Amino acid sequence: MASYDLIVIGTGPGGYVCAIRAAQLGMKVAVVEKWPTFGGTCLNVGCIPSKALLQASERYEEVTHMLPKMGIGVGKPKLDLPTMMKFKTDGVDGNTKGVAFLFKKNKIEPYEGTGRILSAGKVEVKGNDGKTQVLETKNIVIATGSDVAKLKGVEIDEKRIVSSVGALTLDKVPEKMLVIGAGVIGLELGSVWRRLGAQVMVVEFLDRILPGMDGEVAKSFQRIQEKQGVEFKLGAKVTGVDTSGKKLKASIEPAAGGTAETIEADVVLVAIGRVPYTEELGLKEAGVELDQRGRVQTDGHFQTNVKGIYAIGDVIAGPMLAHKAEDEGIAIAEILAGQAGHTNYDVIPGVVYTFPEVASVGKTEEELKQAGVAYTSGKFPFTANARTKVNQTTDGFVKILADAKTDRVLGVHIVGAEAGEMIHEAAVLMEFGGSAEDLARTCHAHPTRSEAVKEAALAVGKRAIHM
Ligand code: FAD
Ligand code: NAI
Repeated sequence: MASYDLIVIGTGPGGYVCAIRAAQLGMKVAVVEKWPTFGGTCLNVGCIPSKALLQASERYEEVTHMLPKMGIGVGKPKLDLPTMMKFKTDGVDGNTKGVAFLFKKNKIEPYEGTGRILSAGKVEVKGNDGKTQVLETKNIVIATGSDVAKLKGVEIDEKRIVSSVGALTLDKVPEKMLVIGAGVIGLELGSVWRRLGAQVMVVEFLDRILPGMDGEVAKSFQRIQEKQGVEFKLGAKVTGVDTSGKKLKASIEPAAGGTAETIEADVVLVAIGRVPYTEELGLKEAGVELDQRGRVQTDGHFQTNVKGIYAIGDVIAGPMLAHKAEDEGIAIAEILAGQAGHTNYDVIPGVVYTFPEVASVGKTEEELKQAGVAYTSGKFPFTANARTKVNQTTDGFVKILADAKTDRVLGVHIVGAEAGEMIHEAAVLMEFGGSAEDLARTCHAHPTRSEAVKEAALAVGKRAIHM
């Protein structure tokens, strides 16, 4: 029987990074993956393909809206959707093959098939060819990720009623797309199809978009999205979709109940969240406990209630983000090697890759108010930034929240072009417990968008220069 120090079940960003770090630390490592390619949701049907389509569709829209302003006349853009989809698939292939290369380089043994935990120390792999084998191991890391949350009365067929998976592979631009859920997936993939020509309506149960993000940021971003042509129906729920006709007919009711209306659409995208994925893992038999939301319960150091079985990524509590899963993968590998592996949940950036982008790290104003923390805030609009002015991408602002007594930065929230890149100087600052004053006194290159971050830090001390 093959025997290992560590078997990782699942090769998403959590699992593959954990396997590589463990191998670097000298462990004999195997991974079990049931999909034909490595990389999990993120590389195959999540982060990577969605960003490829966001990139391509943004360029497509730029041809009409931005290039003529710059004196670049290239005429009306022509959409070649199959080629755009190939651009996406090539990007995915490059990334998944990269993981296969890294496994080889680090001498990690891959098993293709479904992993089931028989007990601590024993994993059964049911190969995709139907054959089973049992592997022995000192430690098991569960990194099986998450799956699409389903909505009663709205059956996903991945053709007309799609999850994010189907929304990444549509073979034509729908005339009208109805998105259920104004979260990250709804807004990113809604953006893709709107840019390519679809009329997009987003129905959201709550009275705001992007729950969890700073309220002021979400409000401002909603206005920007509306300017771009996305229609929002907040405080509303879809109770069913009639698929019998040529057009889909969605019944929409106020969230609190009331008179229903019918909205027609060609494609309905269900994007109401994701749920932990633990099917076929044998957790019940192995005695591994789940929490009330079906997530694998851990002790804060990735250890489940069964000694030798650990869990990371989307399948445990915390934000369902690739980089959170990766950091946890590194932390558990280091813990297993006797080191002090650690994930700092206070400094996990979140980015919505639309145009403009939304990026956030640390606490929102709502969270600080709720916790009764006294804070000061500094805000700086991109309309006053030289670089965004000259680029004519002035939508948005930077907001910095700092402790009123100590000036320590507690949260940074940005709406703006390339906010997802800018957020990291705030993350590094916060990781080192830095203050708004530290940021304000750091020389920033001119002319860059990042000067708006420095100006927002100056604004905390009421001394922004360009405002
Ligand atoms: P996953 O990536 O879900 O990987 C789990 C793996 O385990 C899968 O490969 C699965 O096949 C395998 N598996 C499951 N059960 C078994 C079993 N029993 N045996 C063998 N293998 C098994 N996050 C970001 O940070 N940035 C983004 O831009 C972003 N964009 C996204 C876009 C979309 C459309 C979606 C859906 C998600 C996006 N996410 C993004 C979220 C991100 O994909 C997840 O947070 C991340 O993939 C979680 O990683 P993971 O390793 O926990 O699990
Ligand atoms: P989400 O949790 O971000 O948003 C779901 C939205 O649907 C919420 O606003 C919720 O209030 C709403 N909702 C729930 N039930 C509803 C109903 N019945 N009717 C109408 N609205 C309803 O989930 P989403 O967008 O599906 O994404 C799943 C996960 O994937 C997220 O947790 C996110 O972290 C991750 N992701 C991250 C990305 C990124 O980092 N850029 C990109 C895409 C996904």
